[in-house]
Amino acid sequence: DWTMKSYISEEIKRVRAQVGKGKVLCALSGGVDSSVAAVLLHRAIGKNLFCVYVDHGLQKLGETERVRKVFGKTFGKNLFIVDAKKVFLGKLKGVTDPETKRKIIGHTFIEVFDKYAKQLKGINFLLQGTIYPDVIESVSIKGSKQPIKSHHNVGGLPAKMKMQLVEPLKFLFKDEVRVLGRELKIPNEIIDRQPFPGPGLAIRCLGEITDEKLRILKEADDIVTQEIIKAGLYEKIWQSFAIILPVKTVGVMGDARTYEHVIVLRAVNSVDAMTADWVKLPYDLLGTISSRIINEVKGANRVVYDISNKPPATIEWE
Ligand code: XMP
Repeated sequence: DWTMKSYISEEIKRVRAQVGKGKVLCALSGGVDSSVAAVLLHRAIGKNLFCVYVDHGLQKLGETERVRKVFGKTFGKNLFIVDAKKVFLGKLKGVTDPETKRKIIGHTFIEVFDKYAKQLKGINFLLQGTIYPDVIESVSIKGSKQPIKSHHNVGGLPAKMKMQLVEPLKFLFKDEVRVLGRELKIPNEIIDRQPFPGPGLAIRCLGEITDEKLRILKEADDIVTQEIIKAGLYEKIWQSFAIILPVKTVGVMGDARTYEHVIVLRAVNSVDAMTADWVKLPYDLLGTISSRIINEVKGANRVVYDISNKPPATIEWE
């Protein structure tokens, strides 16, 4: 893509002019935007880019290994994987309120990231994967003073950290970020990802987050993703995922009664997440997902399908 090639070289020049010999810190999440921003910056400034991936234990199954596999070679010794699972899960213990979960995760993220940033001496810049719609959104939110779901991605970082921002994707829309990412040879498994909320599986593990519920959710969610990919639907659907409910229901296995968790399957189509329609998944696919979860995931004995549109329902359950 010619336009993207020239965008890349222009942006590399601009970043070099802004940063000089300075050091840039990046919070790598494994999502599309932060990944593309990081690889672009690496092209521009190489070893002066430092990437920190915070493992809070609320990512999808195998996420940390995936990040290591995909980015380990590119960033080498400058990729830091911080195991903060105990800190996050400790602070979330006993918490059931959705907004409280979001706030705890947001604050803890800043705390962990900040602590790490201080150990890496002499950092002057912070990389942000802000894209154009984020810019518009934050302007209009400031204007209207409307409370929103506390989207925390990394938006809260700069104010506290007093670093100058580097925002190489600021003028791009999501589809352009994807074109740019492909041009930078980032694998499709990263580029084609469905949106994933900053607070991760915390808001899909309804009620209190326990190790047991989180394990069941991760395994069930992984089956959903595998089967949606296998059916060739992953890139066609806006979001498809599992949720675990804080209730147990009765079932039967062999000649014994079971009393286990319910998994909700959610799949929606949308253009901007403001409205969304539930997807009419084929019955066969629903059947496969259901029997795989019930047979393979210890602790789940029932699967239900969410057939609600947004509005009045939201995409997430918390
Ligand atoms: P709702 O549930 O409001 O979600 O219909 C709309 C879109 O936003 C995502 N979402 C979040 N993303 N932090 C995020 O970064 C959050 O706290 C959060 N809550 C919801 C959701 O996955 C959907 O794409």
